[in-house]
Order: sequence, then structure tokens, then C-alpha cells
Amino acid sequence: MRHVTEWRTIIEPFRIHSVEPIRMTTLSERASLLEDVGFNLFSLRAQDVLIDLLTDSGTGAMSSEQWAGVQRGDESYAGSPSWFRFRDAVQDLFAFEHVIPTHQGRAAEKILFSVIAGPGKVVPNNTHFDTTRANVEATGAIALDIPIAEARVPSDRHPFKGNMDLDALERTLQDSDVPCVFVTVTNNSGGGQPVSLENLRAVKAICESHGIPLFLDACRFAENAWFIREREPGQENRDVRDIVKDMASLADGMTMSAKKDGLANIGGWLALDDDAIAEQCRTLLILTEGFPTYGGLSGRDLEAVAQGLKEVVEHDYLRYRVLSTAYLGDALTRAGVPVVQPIGGHAVYLDARALLPHIEPLQYPGQALAVALYREGGIRGCEIGTVMFGRQPDGSELPGPMDLVRLAIPRRTYTQSHVDYVVEVVTAVAAKADELRGLKIVEEPPSLRHFTAKFAPL
Ligand code: F0G
Repeated sequence: MRHVTEWRTIIEPFRIHSVEPIRMTTLSERASLLEDVGFNLFSLRAQDVLIDLLTDSGTGAMSSEQWAGVQRGDESYAGSPSWFRFRDAVQDLFAFEHVIPTHQGRAAEKILFSVIAGPGKVVPNNTHFDTTRANVEATGAIALDIPIAEARVPSDRHPFKGNMDLDALERTLQDSDVPCVFVTVTNNSGGGQPVSLENLRAVKAICESHGIPLFLDACRFAENAWFIREREPGQENRDVRDIVKDMASLADGMTMSAKKDGLANIGGWLALDDDAIAEQCRTLLILTEGFPTYGGLSGRDLEAVAQGLKEVVEHDYLRYRVLSTAYLGDALTRAGVPVVQPIGGHAVYLDARALLPHIEPLQYPGQALAVALYREGGIRGCEIGTVMFGRQPDGSELPGPMDLVRLAIPRRTYTQSHVDYVVEVVTAVAAKADELRGLKIVEEPPSLRHFTAKFAPL
């Protein structure tokens, strides 16, 4: 008898318990909705989207045990049993002294950087995600991205494209005032690529030699640990929980969005060992989020995260998660659509710059492709390119490092036939790529423009 994982067909390791209907739309409806929202997919109503791959953040399905936890949630203002279950679940994987709950990841970032960053300082990261960058820059500090060179080449198949450039880190720590070093696991803006344990150890050694703390932006820690198990020599056959603990033991603290690998719809935390910094962070927490035993969360949210942290490190779940994302990426690769290689954990990143060479980066090929996927098939992806990263702090505009469209896969939410539909639509749009036109921005806010900018076709 074969083990289930030896058959070629990947099955979802769950049955569906409660369903949400999807509203069908027509091509002409979608074309007119695009006009209405200024070609910004963030401004669409979700009910007008057929397959929503905008983000994997907070959009996953909870398990029956998580819903049971929601019922058990204790809403005491201070010292709720739900808080202790949350804290214990976090510390079981990440043995930091202080756990500070927040309503989501960016609240943890805001609090930490308000305390430790500021004008004249530099925060290095393999690649900052947009809110992390914005929170560093909001304090007057510089957010510096130093991934390895392979990370910037979409077709390169390096197994750990999330790794940090160690020489660049050493130089930065010699030359700059660095309050802490961040490593984002997995590297979201760089294609959902993992960081190896070997690279984390080397980063830690450099940080230690300069006496500088290392923090993880740990949103997708379980997917990162699964890739380590799959790809790093000597790590095969290990329990993923032990790999997560190894990752945590190399860091001095972390920020976390439980909307990703917490398998919850809301939640996050800041965790760290340093007593004095934790004290200052808790004071800020009380000003902005709430009392330190709930942060910005209700007791039932704390329960959902506590249970989610147990489920996210289950091997059957992670095997399905990573294989089902690869199922989409591999099918598109076979169809000749350029995608970031190797396929990441939570998303497939279409390489719009390669697919649409006739559209200049400053005419936003990523946005043009994202708009076409919605118009043709009601699929909502997210531009990660010049719209998101092109505006510089001094007001000038430059091409982003890459022009990608991220198709992020909500956890445990869509089935294989939904994904087959996505493959069909993306392949059809790619087949008439030369007909797509660029866009210009007609309205934009001073920062984080991708959320609200309005566009017009060229
Ligand atoms: N860090 C990373 C690497 C992220 O991907 C995100 C969120 C955050 C921090 C902030 O967490 O949303 O809970 O405040 N990423 C989402 C995304 C929004 O779509 O990738 P948050």
C-alpha cells in the first residue's frame, strides 16, 4: 500500500465544512468596473472578484478547531486564559522572553521602529515589504534592501533566493548606525523565496561581531522552514517544528503577522528578549493597541491564532501548501508564461517585464497585466513593481527592481479546479500580450501609492 503522499495527485488535506458562494461576472461588467475604480484593483468590491489572489493575508479559511477556539475565547480585559494560550503557542515555537500581541504585523513594526529606529539610522533587510519599509522610513531612518544578487533575476533557480548578501551586510554594519538587522522569511517582495539556515547563521555571526540584534519578519516562517527541510542539505526528514525553533534561536526578536502563517484572519505580535526595549514597546502598545495581554485583539482572535500555530507546522498541511502553489507555477511555466523561479511558498509571481517588453517600466507593465487578468477572467492579483516601489523618498520616480504580478494563494481556500481556471485565464492573456498597453498615473497620494493611485490607459 502506498502512502498518500506517493500518489501523483495532490489532495487538499481537508474537507469543506462551510461554503461561500462566488458571484459570476461578465467581461463587459468587469471592463466598466475597471473604469469606475481608476484601474486600481484595491478599489474593487470583493464581490466583483471571481478568484481573489490579491493577498494571502487574513484571507485563509479557519479550521473547525479554530472556530471552536473562537467560541472558547475569553474576553477578560487583563490576564485572559486566551492570552496565556496565545503566549504559550508563540513561545513554544519562538522562545523569546517577551511576547507583545498586536492587531497585525504592521502594528508590531510601528511600535518596534518607533522605539529603536529614527533619523540617521539604517535598517538592513533581505527585502523590506511595503509596510515595513514605510514604518522604517516614517521614523526618518533608511530601509536598505540587501538580498543576494540572484534574488533580482526572476529566472535564476537558486534554492534560497531569500538569502541576504553577507558582504553587503558586513559593509553596512561597518559604515552605518544600525539599530537592528531584519531578515524576512520568506522574502515576500522578492518572490516568496526562502532563507536558508546556513545564511541565517552567517547573518547572526556578523550581527554578533558588531553587537547588533537580529530580528525576523516571520510572517511566513512555516513555509520557510518547510523549504529548508526540502532543499537544505542535512535538514531533510527533520520535524519542521525543530527547524522553526532553530530559526528562532538565531534571532533576538521578531515581528509577526498572524494573518499569514498564524492561519488567522487577524492578529500579530512583537517578540524579543531585551527587557528595556520590551518595556518601552509595551508603553507604546498601551497608547495605540491596548493592554499587554490582548494588544489589539479580542480573546477569540487570540484563540484562533494559538490553534493556527499548531496547525501551520503540520507536515501534511505544509506539503499540500507548497505543492499546490507549485502546481500553479509549474503549469504556467509549461505554458510558456514567465514566472519567478523557483516557485515560492505563498504565491506565484508573474514576470510582467519579461512578458510585456513593449511596455516601459514607467508605464507599469505589472499594473497592465494585473488589470488584464481581472478584465479577462475576474482574477485579482497584485502589482509588485514600479507602482509599489517606484516613488523615491525624494519625490523622483525610478523603475522598481522588477515588475511582477503576484498571484497570492489564500490558505486552505481555493480548490484545484479554481487553480486550473487561473492557469487557463493567465495563459490566454499571455497569448495576446502584445495587445496590452501601459498605463499612466493620474492621481496618487504621497506614500504607499499602490493602494489608492488612479490610472488611465495609454
Ligand atoms: N511583513 C511582510 C513580509 C508581509 O508580507 C506583511 C504583509 C507584513 C509584514 C505586514 O503584516 O499585513 O499583518 O500588517 N503582507 C501582506 C501581503 C499585506 O499581501 O503580502 P500585516
